[in-house]
Amino acid sequence: MSAFSREAGKSVSLPAVGCIGCGNMGGAVMRGLCAHESLRLVGHDHTRAKVDALSPAEAPGRVAWAETPEDLVRQAGIVILAVKPHQMEEMLASIRPCLNADKLVVSLAAAVSVKELQRNVGGVCPVVRLMPNLPARAGKGAFALCLDDESLCETQKELLLELFRVMGLVLVLPDGKFSAFSSVAGCGPAFACLFMEGMENAAVAMGFKAEQARRLVAATVEGTASLALRDNIPFDELRRQVCSPGGTTIYGINHMERMAVRGHVTDGVLESMRRDRELSGK
Ligand SMILES: NC(=O)c1ccc[n+]([C@@H]2O[C@H](COP(=O)([O-])OP(=O)(O)OC[C@H]3O[C@@H](n4cnc5c(N)ncnc54)[C@H](OP(=O)(O)O)[C@@H]3O)[C@@H](O)[C@H]2O)c1
Repeated sequence: MSAFSREAGKSVSLPAVGCIGCGNMGGAVMRGLCAHESLRLVGHDHTRAKVDALSPAEAPGRVAWAETPEDLVRQAGIVILAVKPHQMEEMLASIRPCLNADKLVVSLAAAVSVKELQRNVGGVCPVVRLMPNLPARAGKGAFALCLDDESLCETQKELLLELFRVMGLVLVLPDGKFSAFSSVAGCGPAFACLFMEGMENAAVAMGFKAEQARRLVAATVEGTASLALRDNIPFDELRRQVCSPGGTTIYGINHMERMAVRGHVTDGVLESMRRDRELSGK
């Protein structure tokens, strides 16, 4: 029976998930996947301690250790590759003899297209591109998932969505949209931090201790984002709800609008997109 199976009327059964390269992002994704209680997880990295550190304190060994990449591929139905983009081709060449039609390769590498991945696995199994962002580390990520590989079956697509939704928003996007996604969601945490630094500086100037200021600003921004998502409220409407006529907020907003803060943020995101295209030679 295939590793990807669905019994009539029941949810998709999950094959073991393995990750090669358990650094920042591979580690974040594996930590998030621990939320699927019955899912078997396996990890491999140059450094064993990085894999051991992924298991929650109350469940040591939750993420099992695989001695080699090949050993991991033998144990896992879904193989996540989270090595650096320039290491991807070599990694795929080394595990290729262990891949077969029952495996599924998920690449986290930025700027490695589905076509390149398909070429590197020699078409023996389906490949998927997944682009996470930094907040995935806190279980609040935004993920782009590319399901362009025509050899993927519906069950595999459902299973992948079920797997990654525990860590945040998952958008299914074509390969060609990954650059745009990266400029908004990948670079986004840095843009949000720049804005929060401005608010933090003001809070400190008004006498809050630095740590208190940081927590206050982060909670305010997180709360605003949660409200917009939960109630599906457009940002400008939410902003108007805070701007009482003749009140304090509208004075602050008017100043920021005169400084064209909003337009500069838009231009900043587009500038990141331009650089992304430049780097990928488009
Ligand atoms: N960080 C982000 O915000 C982010 C966002 C989206 C996508 N990504 C993608 O995620 C991937 C990983 O990035 P990262 O930031 O997590 O890098 P990282 O922290 O350096 O993690 C990569 C890990 O893979 C290990 N590794 C490399 N080659 C290996 C091999 N042959 N066998 C076993 N382990 C090996 C590295 O070990 P050594 O250090 O000892 O070599 C390291 O622990 C990249 O492709 C990147 O494009 C990252």
